[in-house]
Amino acid sequence: MTPLTDRQGRFSPLKAATLALALLPAAVIAYWFFTRQLGPLPVKTALHLVGDWTIRLLVITLALTPLQRVLNYPKIALIRRMLGVTTFAYGLTHFLLYIVQSKFDLVFVVTEIVLRFYLTIGFVALIGLSLLAATSFDSAIRKLGKTWKTIHRLVYGIAVLGLLHYFIQSKIDVSPATLMAGFFILLMIYRSFISRRMALTPLVLAISAGLAGLLTALTEFAWYGLATGVDPWRIAQANLMVSFGLRPAIIVALVGLVPCGFLILRNAHSNGWFKLRKLTA
Ligand code: HEM
Repeated sequence: MTPLTDRQGRFSPLKAATLALALLPAAVIAYWFFTRQLGPLPVKTALHLVGDWTIRLLVITLALTPLQRVLNYPKIALIRRMLGVTTFAYGLTHFLLYIVQSKFDLVFVVTEIVLRFYLTIGFVALIGLSLLAATSFDSAIRKLGKTWKTIHRLVYGIAVLGLLHYFIQSKIDVSPATLMAGFFILLMIYRSFISRRMALTPLVLAISAGLAGLLTALTEFAWYGLATGVDPWRIAQANLMVSFGLRPAIIVALVGLVPCGFLILRNAHSNGWFKLRKLTA
């Protein structure tokens, strides 16, 4: 199977569209970079933007299995490997930009990675991503057999390290990192239901959304309480006030309700409720 073909060797529009979409952020960042639209520190800005997309793509890749279940669309499995490898490519670019930012002083880069905890965990996460990318080929899957699954379960630990790296470097405002952590929590809740062989019904999805929102708020509370001097209770209260904009916990809960609403509508459609209403109207 090549990057653009399916298992039968036919051109796959789904894979082509996914690859184009996944590479779009990199193309836009490169365009901004070469047209000098990234401000006074273009390499640093590009490093941050590519880092953001590394973690986003990782979370999107993890979302594919639950999405496949909810949409009942087996073809989604075709793009999982491609998105995983693209995530690694973004992570590697992020690292290379760090080397460029450090003026190619490799001794400095290694020393910083050893001495700064957030860089150490970023590095371990990148090594993990490279291991997954290197073992994602058909031949590796065949050779590794059952071990392949064990190795690829590392992705969850890698995501946790990536998120921790994101939180630690975030300075005072951890909202974007909390949002990504919240989506990860939501996906882990789905995963726990799937591994118990439970179907993702609208009720299960609604419970997951509420629980993920709550755990996201708790994560944020714990981070502010333990790692910053900010009063965590003020942050917790802000979750209840719309005047502060939608906080990560609320966004996670709302996003979690989207698949739930989708399933309710789809069930209603297949039960013919819409037709019934038309007839009785
Ligand atoms: C060798 C590996 C890595 C190195 C050396 C590295 C280095 C850095 C540096 C220097 C920053 C900016 C910190 C600052 O300006 O204060 C950063 C930010 C970030 N990194 Fe990494 N990183 C690595 C791996 C990763 C990986 C594997 C991920 C994702 C899974 C990741 C995601 C991020 C994110 C999301 C940010 C924040 C971007 C933002 O502020 O918008 N990094 N990283």
